Amino acid sequence: MFLKNKTVLITGAGGGLGRAIARACAENGANLFLHCRERDKDILAFARQLKEYGGEVKIVGVDLLQSDSIDTLHQAVVSKQYTIGAIDVLINNAGVKSFQKEFPLVTQTNWIWCMNVNARIPFFLCQRFIPDLSVNKGAIVNISSLSGHMPRGRSIDYAMSKAALDIMTRCIAKEYPQVRVNAVSPGYVDTPMVSEKTRSKDPAPYIAKPEEVAQLIMWLLSPDAAHVTGEVIPYIGIHELEDLKVKYSK
Ligand SMILES: NC(=O)c1ccc[n+]([C@@H]2O[C@H](COP(=O)([O-])OP(=O)(O)OC[C@H]3O[C@@H](n4cnc5c(N)ncnc54)[C@H](OP(=O)(O)O)[C@@H]3O)[C@@H](O)[C@H]2O)c1
Repeated sequence: MFLKNKTVLITGAGGGLGRAIARACAENGANLFLHCRERDKDILAFARQLKEYGGEVKIVGVDLLQSDSIDTLHQAVVSKQYTIGAIDVLINNAGVKSFQKEFPLVTQTNWIWCMNVNARIPFFLCQRFIPDLSVNKGAIVNISSLSGHMPRGRSIDYAMSKAALDIMTRCIAKEYPQVRVNAVSPGYVDTPMVSEKTRSKDPAPYIAKPEEVAQLIMWLLSPDAAHVTGEVIPYIGIHELEDLKVKYSK
C-alpha cells in the first residue's frame, strides 16, 4: 500500500493501459484522478469498481486537444485537492497512434496531431504540475514507446513524438532533482491501440499485457526505485529484442 494517502493523476485512464495503471494504483492504496475524454457511463462504472479498493476516485473529462485543456485539467484537480490532497504522481499515458503512412505521404495534419497529443500535452502538463510535484517530492511517469528509439516503418510521426517524450523526460529529471521523472517504453501491448492483426498473434511472448506494464510503473513509483530518475525503461518481448539487435549491429 505504498500509494496510500498519495494522489495520482492518470491521463487517458479509460484506455487499455490507462485502466491497468489505474487499477494497480488503486490496489496500492492511491487516491485517483482519472482523466478521460468524456465522463461516459463506462468510466463511471470503472471508477465505482476502483473505489472498492478504499481510495478516492474522481473523473476529469477533457479533450486534450481543446485549446484550454491544460488549464481545465489543472483547475479540476486543484479545486478537488481539498478533498483528496495535492498531486503526488502524474502519469502521462494518453496517446494516439501513427497514421501508418510511408514518409512521403505523412501530412502536416498527421504529424501535428501525433506531436500534439503525444509530446506537447505531456510537456505542458509536466510544466503545470511540477510546482506541486516538487513540494511533495513526487514523481512523473511518461508512457513512451519502443518506436521512439527503433524505426518500425510507417510510423515516423508516432516515433518522433515518443522520441521527444524520452528526451523531455531526461531534461525535466535533470532540472528537477526533487521530482523523479521517468518513462516506460513498451513494445506491443494488448490494447485497442494495436491492430487486431497484431493482437491476434500468439500473445506470449509476442505482445505484453497492460497489467505487466502497470507493474513496472508500480515499481518505478515504489520506495524500491527511490534512486531512479531520468530513465527510459523498455518493456519489450524477445522478438523486439531481435529487432533492436539488428538495428544496433548495423
Ligand atoms: N498499445 C501499445 O502497443 C503501446 C505500445 C507502446 C506505447 N503505448 C502507449 O501507451 C499509452 C496508452 O495507450 P493504449 O495502448 O492504452 O491505447 P488506448 O487504449 O487507445 O488509450 C489511449 C488513451 O488516450 C486517450 N486520448 C487520446 N487522445 C486524446 C485526447 N485528445 N483527449 C483525451 N484523451 C485522449 C484515449 O481516449 P479515447 O479512447 O477517448 O480516444 C485513450 O483513453 C499511449 O501513450 C501509447 O502511445 C502503447
